Amino acid sequence: MATPITDEPADSITPVERALADREDGTDRFERASDIATRFLDNIEDVVYGKRDEIKLVLAALACGGHVLLEDVPGTAKTVLARAIAATIEGATPSRIQCTPDLQPTDVTGLSVFDQKTRDFEFRPGPVFANIVLVDEINRATPKTQSALLEAMAEYQVTVDGVTRDLPNPFLLIATENPIEYEGTFPLPEAQLDRFFLRTALGYPGLDDELKILEQQRYGHPLADLDSAVTLEDIRELRASAQHVYMDDVIHRWLVELVRATRGHESVVIGSSVRGSLALERAARAWALLAGRSFVIPEDIERLFVPVLIHRVVFTPSFVARARASSWDHAIAEFRAACLLLAPRPGSEEDPIFEHPSS
Ligand SMILES: Nc1ncnc2c1ncn2[C@@H]1O[C@H](COP(=O)(O)OP(=O)(O)OP(=O)(O)O)[C@@H](O)[C@H]1O
Ligand SMILES: [Mg+2]
Repeated sequence: MATPITDEPADSITPVERALADREDGTDRFERASDIATRFLDNIEDVVYGKRDEIKLVLAALACGGHVLLEDVPGTAKTVLARAIAATIEGATPSRIQCTPDLQPTDVTGLSVFDQKTRDFEFRPGPVFANIVLVDEINRATPKTQSALLEAMAEYQVTVDGVTRDLPNPFLLIATENPIEYEGTFPLPEAQLDRFFLRTALGYPGLDDELKILEQQRYGHPLADLDSAVTLEDIRELRASAQHVYMDDVIHRWLVELVRATRGHESVVIGSSVRGSLALERAARAWALLAGRSFVIPEDIERLFVPVLIHRVVFTPSFVARARASSWDHAIAEFRAACLLLAPRPGSEEDPIFEHPSS
């Protein structure tokens, strides 16, 4: 609609009043986002114990429209987490795809079937048409089926019989992979790994948490009683707010230097892609938001380096062999430290340059 051009200002608000209103709106925005995040995390913690940081990573991915790869041993609450997320978001549709070598792309995307009554083809949507999709043991699916998931993950749409259909919004895909079993699996190619926003593991709960799990599940699973705590609209609002989080130019440059450092390291065949820089930037904004901040600090980027970048890096066989023989986590920590030496973080947290200009 065209706006009439007049000499009169659209309203009588002065620029100073407008700036103040914007600032207030901004403060409200971050307060609301922090409240949504707290409600979300507290609710999920009613069923998944002692994993707040990992759940926060999944929420950060959700706030950025990214997808999560959970690499974990069996029985570490991966399925429970995905179901809890779906239950926490009012109106969100959950679905689960168990991958096996005979799973066909159309088992995921859906297909057109001939309706005898209407004498026409009718599209039956597959399980990928849901808000929260859990793809169990993704590396057991054939590359053909994996690539059907790829389009959904990257484009938020699915093409069947030449017709492209949009997926629901928000759309979060959580894929699981067992790091121990290799037999009968099809390891995800680099291009597919790169499409995951982040990779994390839930891991075993601590002793006290495990005792609490036994206690809570004596008469049934707490998931059955889990109520919703946020709406689909809240999640969309979280996404919009994450885009307003401030990142200083100095941090921006350092972030790119850090990603580039992964490319020059001697233990690396292929470093992180540009998608890695993009993901790290978005993830840092979301992470700051979930911490109740309206600006990114270097610690956000340091914290996200491993979950956002490592699965995009191809290490040399000798690095992998050495890491597996000792400890993978330790080897990755050393690699991160080496990258931070190549691209040292700018200043400290107290440095005024990192403060939000409006704060
Ligand atoms: N940190 C945890 N907090 C609460 N419950 C947990 C936790 N870890 C495991 N459990 C419990 O362990 C059981 C198995 O969890 P779940 O079925 O989600 O495992 P999974 O990771 O999906 O396993 P699989 O790889 O075999 O599919 C559930 O009853 C779950 O509640
Ligand atoms: Mg499971």
